[in-house]
Amino acid sequence: MCGIVGYYGERSAYDVLVKGLKRLEYRGYDSAGIAVIGDGLEVFKKKGKVKDLENFIDQKKITGKIGIGHTRWATHGEPSDVNAHPHLSGEKSIAIIHNGIIENYSSLKQELLSKGYEFESETDTEVLVQFIQAIKIENNCGLVEAIRIALNQVIGAYAIAVISKDEPNLLVAARKGSPLVIGIGKDEFLLASDASPIVEYTNEVVYLNDNEIAIIENGDLTITTIEDVKQTPYIQTLDLELEAIEKGGYPHFMLKEIFEQPNSIGDCMRGRIDATTDRLVLGGIREYADKLVEAERIVIVACGTSWHAGLVAEYLIEDLCRIPVEVEYASEFRYRNPVIKQGDVVIAISQSGETADTLAAIELAKSKGAVIFGVVNTVGSSISRATDEGAYLHAGPEIGVASTKAFTGQLTVLTMIALMIGKRKGTITDRKFSNMLRELSMIPEKIKAVLDSNDKIEFIADLFKDARNFLYLGRGYNFPVALEGALKLKEISYIHAEGYPAAEMKHGPIALIDEQMPVVVIATRDNSYDKIVSNIQEVKARKGVVIAVVTEGDALIPKMADFVIEVPRTADELMPLVSVLPLQLLSYHIAVLRGCNVDQPRNLAKSVTVE
Ligand code: G6P
Repeated sequence: MCGIVGYYGERSAYDVLVKGLKRLEYRGYDSAGIAVIGDGLEVFKKKGKVKDLENFIDQKKITGKIGIGHTRWATHGEPSDVNAHPHLSGEKSIAIIHNGIIENYSSLKQELLSKGYEFESETDTEVLVQFIQAIKIENNCGLVEAIRIALNQVIGAYAIAVISKDEPNLLVAARKGSPLVIGIGKDEFLLASDASPIVEYTNEVVYLNDNEIAIIENGDLTITTIEDVKQTPYIQTLDLELEAIEKGGYPHFMLKEIFEQPNSIGDCMRGRIDATTDRLVLGGIREYADKLVEAERIVIVACGTSWHAGLVAEYLIEDLCRIPVEVEYASEFRYRNPVIKQGDVVIAISQSGETADTLAAIELAKSKGAVIFGVVNTVGSSISRATDEGAYLHAGPEIGVASTKAFTGQLTVLTMIALMIGKRKGTITDRKFSNMLRELSMIPEKIKAVLDSNDKIEFIADLFKDARNFLYLGRGYNFPVALEGALKLKEISYIHAEGYPAAEMKHGPIALIDEQMPVVVIATRDNSYDKIVSNIQEVKARKGVVIAVVTEGDALIPKMADFVIEVPRTADELMPLVSVLPLQLLSYHIAVLRGCNVDQPRNLAKSVTVE
């Protein structure tokens, strides 16, 4: 969380920074700020969105060509002008922006306080910049050396960028645990938390590694480690189009991303599946493929929506491959002394590839000798680099904070992994394998059919937009979909919602049901259909209002439910790919009708790089 951006070149730094911050706003939007070396060191920062910063700066002429910018998701200290980044050293010569957490900030602060340093903000970042300043004075050294010494004493995670009015031709950046990409243009350099602020200017990038410092000075880039060992920059070419990070005529990124799903799933399968020849190839899983096939158990680690995809994968892998699967919240896994043995298989699922807890869970499993596979969307991200092998989603950038196309991309990749294992293990027949491939390749068309119900779903949303609670029920493969539907609703509309396995309802949530309670039941035709029909009757008997997601042509449930949304028929294992769509649209429309900021819901961030 928090987005950072830096510029060094011949353009107006202000223009590049503000544009870049808008692209990174999905990472946090509590406050924003910039610092530019122009007429001295000019700093502007403001509580609120990047737009509030622009209004605050108004028409002021900012001429500098080197600068840094930040959009914040508060960790230490409430969102306020004073806690906004950039933070300055005491005599206001050094400016820093920071994404991450300095864990030993409190002891560093005590040390600095005892030396007479004063602090304006409550942030760990101000401690870091004062610490750098103190080292600079005590060692009588330049900025780069002071940063290097400081980072050797810092515990925690950071991506930082630093400028100083005393060395006006210098931009320094460093990373440990938080992402940082450097764009190399013609006579200019950019740096950012992800490639989206960079792609407009260049597609040549270097992903900084942990414990590396990038020094951009007098038109040159040098990379060293924090031990001062020079590194050769590994320049990569970005595969990212500008239009992929713009709204393309949609009112919100979330809606654009929901409607992109026929294409994003198609892209995910492209070159990997050929249903006409029964071919399934995952190019990123080769050397360690045997480990997956021979695994005695598989542990999945993930957070949020990615954890829900993991639950579907548990059903898929146990069903199709007969391998026991455990799905863990990464944040719990890493702190509970889990049993992982040499050669165990772990699958980490992450859209951003930067989630701190998932990354830490991977490191823990690795240290115990596990083989790690990644199911990641963001190419070149920290998680994709920390895993042994894996498969990208190829869903394109997901910018709306509520995950949609990444979820269906994850399901697609996980289904392909399960099919690959099942085929090689012989736990599924050739016939089942080819049927599944055929069904999978038809999913994009089936999703298009669900998207045709958008107007109907908007109509239903309007009727329920003022509800205070929602219950989501599903069974089997649709149980994780119920969890995901409830999560989507609460995160963007702020309506309390719970997802439950339908049969568990009678062990508690049924007490909540009355005529005020909308109950969304995912009741597609599968092997628990008859049971879920009974669950709908239980809700109706208590006067609950039922919105049912049903398989097209279902004649029974429409007689009981208050509203039905039809989805096309597909294999049970693939149903979540289709049945989640109406729930994404329902939450989207409810949130819009309630006047909520769908793409930037309060308190949330897209990429959670703190623990
Ligand atoms: C945040 C996002 C969610 C996401 C979760 C895990 O909470 O808002 O949309 O599911 O992090 O993120 P990851 O990038 O690891 O999938």
